[in-house]
Amino acid sequence: MAEPCNVVVLISGSGSNLQALIDDLHGAGSPARIRAVISNRADAAGLSRARAAGIDTRVLDHTRYAGREAFDAALIAEIDAFEPQLVVLAGFMRILSGGFVRHYQGRLLNIHPSLLPRHKGLDTHRRALEAGDAEHGCSVHFVTEELDGGPLVVQAVLPIEADDTPERLATRVHHREHLIYPLAVRWFAEGRLRLGADGAMLDGAKLPATGHLIRT
Ligand code: GRF
Repeated sequence: MAEPCNVVVLISGSGSNLQALIDDLHGAGSPARIRAVISNRADAAGLSRARAAGIDTRVLDHTRYAGREAFDAALIAEIDAFEPQLVVLAGFMRILSGGFVRHYQGRLLNIHPSLLPRHKGLDTHRRALEAGDAEHGCSVHFVTEELDGGPLVVQAVLPIEADDTPERLATRVHHREHLIYPLAVRWFAEGRLRLGADGAMLDGAKLPATGHLIRT
């Protein structure tokens, strides 16, 4: 059997998406292996999840670096020591420099809690409610230099209900995140997903602009 795809996961916080990846990808026959989890915060709860699963962890405190370029250069060195074929952003709360993004072009994925291109940035659940959106959800995308703007791989769509609050919506969206992120990482690890010249490709065919849509 082919060697599993080495994955490095970057986090800053709770790491519930990391946990979903750990749960989905552990075990014999998995197409991917999480080689390391790197956090910019020493108190990120996700670090304990990684340690509990026997995964190497590193902390790189961005406040100790002179600026974004210096931090990103150090981060690249830490990541590349693990020789990953794929780098996964799972709640990594840092804007990445163009140099970093270009270094991992085509092998850098992010998950975002909205139906991109709607609601880029933060506070997405409240903004979806305030906008009167009928639907909301989450997106996995390849990372490019445009913040939250790279080609979409998969979206989970859910209806907004009349009595939804930002908190209720966040819980329901999070549940979907934990389904679609492992799916996308598996596709990549199996060699089914790649970034083509004009968008994300699955099984050799260009994905629609929304990515693969899952309605629940
Ligand atoms: C998720 O909502 C994800 O979409 C966003 O950051 C959050 C991370 O949550 N990028 P967790 O740390 O995985 O629980």
